[in-house]
Parts: sequence; C-alpha cells; structure tokens
Amino acid sequence: MGKIPTSRIDKLLSSMGYGSRSEIARMAKRGGITLDAANLRDVTKRVPITPDLSARVEIDGEALDPVAGIVILMNKPLGMTCSHKEDGSLVYDILPERWNRRAPAISTIGRLDKQTSGLLLLTDDGGLLHRIISPKRHVTKIYRAKLARPLDGTEGDLFASGQVMLEGEDRPLAPAELQVVSETEALLSVTEGRYHQVRRMFAATGNRVEKLHRERIGGLSLPDDMAPGEWKLLCEEEVALIFR
Ligand code: URA
Repeated sequence: MGKIPTSRIDKLLSSMGYGSRSEIARMAKRGGITLDAANLRDVTKRVPITPDLSARVEIDGEALDPVAGIVILMNKPLGMTCSHKEDGSLVYDILPERWNRRAPAISTIGRLDKQTSGLLLLTDDGGLLHRIISPKRHVTKIYRAKLARPLDGTEGDLFASGQVMLEGEDRPLAPAELQVVSETEALLSVTEGRYHQVRRMFAATGNRVEKLHRERIGGLSLPDDMAPGEWKLLCEEEVALIFR
C-alpha cells in the first residue's frame, strides 16, 4: 500500500479556499477550527489527507469540505457558461464561493454551451477529466435535441456512417447513434466532444436545434428529481458508472 500523504493543516485549508495561512491561524486562535472535536491551536500540525478528514475537522461548526478528488454532478441551467473567465453567469457561481479558490482548481469535464442544459460533471482530478474526455475511451454522451424542422428519416444512417464532415474540419465524425422520439425530437449518442457538435450535426442535415439537454454520460444519468442549478458530489461507485 502507498504511503498516505500528509499536509500541514494551514496549508491544506488554504488550498481548499478557506483563506490565507495567516487568516487560518487567526481562525484557529479564536477557536474556529476543531480536529477530532478538540480545538486546534497549532495550525502547523500535519494531518493525513484522507476522505475521512471531512468528518474529523470542523470549521466554525461545519464539516470540512471534501479534500482533493471531488467529482460533482450538476444539472446545468440554461444561460450559464462553462468558463472560469467569461463575463456573465458561470456554472462555478453555483458552487460554494470558496471552491473557486481551491487548488487544484475545479473544472468542468468538457463543456456545455450557454444555451444547453443538463448533466455536467466537474472535478479537481485532472487524470479523471482526461479519462472521460479522451476519444479513445469512447465514453458516450446522450443528448435530447428538440428540432426546428421535422426529421427527414435520413439522419440516423448519416450519423451512423462515420462519414459526416463538419464545416471547417478535416476529419469525419465518429459514428453516432440517433434515436427518434418524435418528428421534431431525437436522442443522439456521441463519443466525441467537438465544438458545438450536436448543433452542427443537425445543421449539416439542414435542420436547427432549438433546445438541447444532456441526459447521460456513459452509464451515469442525470437524476430525474434534480432541478436545474442543483448539484451533488458523486461517490466512487457513481464515478465508476461513467465508464460502464
Ligand atoms: N453539442 C452542442 O452543440 N452543444 C453542447 O453544449 C454539447 C454538445
């Protein structure tokens, strides 16, 4: 078994967005930090970085945020951008404010357009992020698209052909699977994540996507009872579903 990493508690809390090291020292001095239910005064104390730390440390009476290795499932609302930098509403604004100061940073796993809703994953685990977005892994993403015009019946074969060339690109799209729901609604399963891919695929057939919602990534579905803007942390078993 590998050695469990440890960290000075002030350094750890600072990397989790709780404040600078001096702010954390002040917090401890006024009794705001407990470790195993006892006031922690010595912020240079080293603690093992294990998931149970959230149950051992309290900050102002609240359980410590999860340590590094978090995976978040969000129902992204319309009108929010998957970016750290742009103006306007960002998906990161939905999360606790101090999470924007975490290192390693929390990033979206791929992006959804501002006008796309649905299942969005975020993580601070760079390795996991790359495993999910790597085209080699063939993790499927399922989108529900509402279309401006009726489907003409040729789209399924075209998308499955592996020969669709999107405008401005030099490599055809990998085969994708279309499931027709109604004349103007379809579920599309893709394994890539090219820029505006679903909208451009339907545009290539002379149609236009009016509403787009992501329902699934791999074997992980957006829970039916999760309202837009809601989110939750995923456990290991749920993360494993992504690759199933
Ligand atoms: N395809 C799109 O066109 N937009 C998204 O947000 C995701 C996939």
